[in-house]
Amino acid sequence: MRALDTKEIVLATHNAGKLREMRDLMAPFGFSVTSVGERGLPEPEENGTTFEENAYAKAFAAAQATGMVSLSDDSGLCVEALGGAPGVYTADWAEKNDGSGRDFLLAMQKVESSLLEKGATDPSRRKGYFCAVLCLCWPDGHAEYFRGEAHGELVWPPRGDDGFGYDPVFKPDGQERTFGEMTAQEKHGWKMGEGEPLSHRARAFAKFAEANLA
Ligand code: IMP
Repeated sequence: MRALDTKEIVLATHNAGKLREMRDLMAPFGFSVTSVGERGLPEPEENGTTFEENAYAKAFAAAQATGMVSLSDDSGLCVEALGGAPGVYTADWAEKNDGSGRDFLLAMQKVESSLLEKGATDPSRRKGYFCAVLCLCWPDGHAEYFRGEAHGELVWPPRGDDGFGYDPVFKPDGQERTFGEMTAQEKHGWKMGEGEPLSHRARAFAKFAEANLA
């Protein structure tokens, strides 16, 4: 793994929910972080078919534009009974038909109706996982990846107003509450050196910490 010889990192995400969580999870490392949004950079196209490809597209665009090391997160929800969908298309499932933005209640309803079409009413048929791939990318294109997964079950109706995206319909294994019913700290389940990470993103950051690049 390439050593990280800078304390300044640009976070390559325009998603407010992810940015909040990434800042939280980055805080203990002592980096000075800014985001691509704060720097007025556009959102690149995500045409990849894997989380890694899309994470690279975002991180490389930010590293090239800023000349800094960047960190992106590509993530999504993979539902077993749906053959892994929505997967890399998780954000797309929230696109409104009139093109006026994203609606995550609509996206959660799409997942639920797809599960019902498969007759997946029993919890054992409603398993899925969130995946987050972090890509750390240098301006010369070198990249390192850190993947985290959180396995659990899709519930209906949605529960809780905390978090973002599909949090209200995802109940991680071993927990009674959905991610939407947890505080950020509970969802991460982790601070540097304290406790076991729970969320996919916290698990990916734990791998980043283990890599000890600094
Ligand atoms: P992308 O990585 O920009 O392709 O977007 C991933 C999508 O997955 C986001 O828009 C969210 O809707 C969803 N997602 C990723 N991580 C989480 C999470 O921690 N909670 C809920 N939804 C998530």
